[in-house]
Parts: sequence; C-alpha cells; structure tokens
Amino acid sequence: MRKIIFATGNQDKMKEIREILADLDAEVLSLKDAGIKADIVEDGRTFEENAQIKARAICEMTGEIVLADDSGLEIDYLNKEPGVYSARYMGEDTSYRIKNANLIGRLEGVPDEQRTARFVCAIAAAFPDGRIKTVRAAMEGRIGYEEKGGNGFGYDPIFYLPEYGCTSAELSMEEKNKISHRGKALRAIKDELR
Ligand code: IMP
Repeated sequence: MRKIIFATGNQDKMKEIREILADLDAEVLSLKDAGIKADIVEDGRTFEENAQIKARAICEMTGEIVLADDSGLEIDYLNKEPGVYSARYMGEDTSYRIKNANLIGRLEGVPDEQRTARFVCAIAAAFPDGRIKTVRAAMEGRIGYEEKGGNGFGYDPIFYLPEYGCTSAELSMEEKNKISHRGKALRAIKDELR
C-alpha cells in the first residue's frame, strides 16, 4: 500500500482527512505517525504558497508523497484580513473569544451585504519526482453580530451561513465537512491523487 503523509500535527484535522481520503487505498500518516519533527516557516503571501512550502519541505525530507494545507478567513470589508495571518491574528496565544470580539467590533455599523467573508483552504500535493499540484476551495458566508454555537473552532462562532440560518459553529462536524473549504479541497486533491 502506498504511503501519503499529511503535514499536520492536528489530530482533529487528521480524523477528517482520513475519512475523506479513505477510498484512496493509501495509508495516510500524520507528521507524528511518520516520526517527523519539523518547524517550517510559513512565510508565503498566499494560502497556496504556504501549503506548497510545507508539502515540498516534508517531501524532500522523506521521499514520500506529501499533502499540506493552509487555511484562513477572508473578510471583504477588511481587505481580506486576517487571511494568511488568521492563526497569528492578534497573536497566536490570544483566545478566539478576543479575536472574534475584535473582528465584530471592526465591523460595527457595517450592513449585512458588506459583511461577506469566506473560509479558504489550499492543499498542495508534493510528489517525490518534483511535481506539485495545488487546489483551493472556499466556503462563503458573512460575519455575524455576535458569537453563536459551540462546535467547530477558531472563527466558526462568528461565521454566519445565510443558506443555513446559523453559524458554522452551530453545524455538526459531519454537516460542516460536507460544505467546508477543507472538505471541498480534500475531495479535489483526492481526484489529483488517483
Ligand atoms: P491552519 O490552516 O491550520 O494554519 O489554520 C489557519 C487558521 O485559520 C486557524 O487557526 C483558524 O484561525 C482559521 N480557520 C481555518 N479554518 C477554519 C475553520 O474551519 N473554522 C474556524 N477557523 C478556521
């Protein structure tokens, strides 16, 4: 069976990744499963660049097929902030209570139609022969007026999905995976790996 390494240390992501890639007939390993310790500087300007940097670095270290993702929230009214800085916005250790309250505050008085936003996920696949494939997917929504819902993580409680009438933190994990940026990007990269 061929091996695929997914360059993440996040176990929640690995669960979702294994579920979606289950029918690929490949053993999908996390960095930890593969015994890799790497501190890669994500200094790309785009989600695609960051995913490629990570995938290529681990592929060169291991000689295996490596997938890596990079994701974040783009708010149109804030010129697509926090974007590639989503995890680092206001500091890596600042709680999402504070980050979410800050973003809602920056949108004070901004009407619904100007509160558009999206979660973006880029996934890169690096192959030992040097090829690299990259996909991008998004989930469109709007920034809400208060935090709602206890599922998900990060910016989910302020990410309102008009078609569903709730935030992405009010969806179950299964419901979110069907429509999420990461779920869509994983299904797209799977097609590239077949
Ligand atoms: P990374 O791709 O693991 O580096 O995540 C980037 C950051 O984007 C996360 O730390 C969150 O702040 C944000 N983010 C990405 N995807 C989601 C999501 O599905 N829900 C909430 N926040 C997200």
